Amino acid sequence: MSLHNAMHNIEKSAIFTFIGIVLLFSTAVIAVLVAPNYVEQTWTQPTNPYQVQVYEVADPNLYISRAGGDNRQFVYHMKQDYTLLAFQETETLRIVATPELERYVTRNGDPHLKLTARLLMLRPVPLPLRDREKKLQLELQQEWEKQHPLAVHEKLPKPAFQIMELYAPEGSEAFALAPSDSLLENWVDKDYTILDGAAKQPYHLDPGVIYVANPIEYRAKQTYTSWGTIWLYDPRGEAVASLQQLTNPPMNFVSRRELISIGEHIYNIEGCWYCHTDQTRTLVQDVVLNGSESFPAPPSSPGEYIYQEVTFPGTRRIGPDLSRVGVKRPSRDWHKGHFWAPKTASKGSIMPSFKHFFDDDPSGGAPQTVGVPNYQFEAIYQYLVTKGTRITPPTEAWWLGKDPIKTLEIIEGQRKLP
Ligand code: HEC
Repeated sequence: MSLHNAMHNIEKSAIFTFIGIVLLFSTAVIAVLVAPNYVEQTWTQPTNPYQVQVYEVADPNLYISRAGGDNRQFVYHMKQDYTLLAFQETETLRIVATPELERYVTRNGDPHLKLTARLLMLRPVPLPLRDREKKLQLELQQEWEKQHPLAVHEKLPKPAFQIMELYAPEGSEAFALAPSDSLLENWVDKDYTILDGAAKQPYHLDPGVIYVANPIEYRAKQTYTSWGTIWLYDPRGEAVASLQQLTNPPMNFVSRRELISIGEHIYNIEGCWYCHTDQTRTLVQDVVLNGSESFPAPPSSPGEYIYQEVTFPGTRRIGPDLSRVGVKRPSRDWHKGHFWAPKTASKGSIMPSFKHFFDDDPSGGAPQTVGVPNYQFEAIYQYLVTKGTRITPPTEAWWLGKDPIKTLEIIEGQRKLP
């Protein structure tokens, strides 16, 4: 072969190689740029409006005190024209209101919930009670006794009957006491009206909304304990003036959203994912194990994880799957006992104990006593209760996930939802 011919051949193959590289490269670029637009929507969209509202409306506006062990305080930051509020009487609560505010109260037994974006709050009526309030309290008590003859007969302790006053606080934001048990979100998807005309926020138009039920003005008294200063609700205490006061020292409240994110980090660095998975597969054993036979848990969907920075699908199940643990084990007390000593909560458990989630033992070192949980416990707990609760609201979506045959019937229009 002559030199000239060899050059000619090399050049030709070089051109082909070059064209090949360009083709490969541009195909790759096009795939990267174009493909995401055709990704299945459920991968990048939230599972439902409930999930969006929890993460974008409820959590960022719920604050939890750092110190305080079991006296932890939960406080809502409520904003005019933003937070939806409900004032609903119960068996043991009556609400008094001026004629102007009367229409915001949902009376006991009324199945139709009234909501408002107007900033209103409840406070205990000042003592001594006036005649009208005394009469109300007596009525409450008599009604309760009529409804619970057995309790009266057996002389069981009566519940505390409360008379609250509805009023409009000054300014455009306010702080209210929130319940401290695990499920904080009140969700309503039927039989409700938002009063005062037009929706003030896009989420007010969603099919179903999260609201704050019976917000009671958060006033607190500072108390000193062996493990630090704590704030306890006290109607005669001081009101919180601003969000800065709530989140800065010495109050140091932290938002639940922030705690959940710290919890996610703790889950990561403690290696919980080594023994636990975080996905309910579409297999019967997963759906039943994470729920029950009559109430199966919906399989995980990609949209569930979009609010997490890191996700932990996991590969091994040395311990149970945790993707529905918020529904399966909502109790804060159970988790306290379990993290302190897994073997006592769950016989024969090989899960290590996480005593560093507890700061000190207020009873003075008795080894069996569950210590005072610190913010690490609160963070991991708040993270765990996001698992399942938010993507399984008691709505159509939840119901649909339960039974594939019924689901098909609903989709095909042969069955109406209850
Ligand atoms: C060495 C493996 C291991 C590690 C690491 C581990 N676990 Fe576990 N976990 C288990 C086992 C085994 C069980 C089942 C027995 C029990 O309830 O203790 C369990 C149970 C649980 C349960 C109860 C679940 C249910 O459905 O009853 C929760 C919640 C839990 N673990 C959370 C965590 C968290 C959070 C971490 C990290 C901070 C963690 N685990 C680390 C092995 C582990």
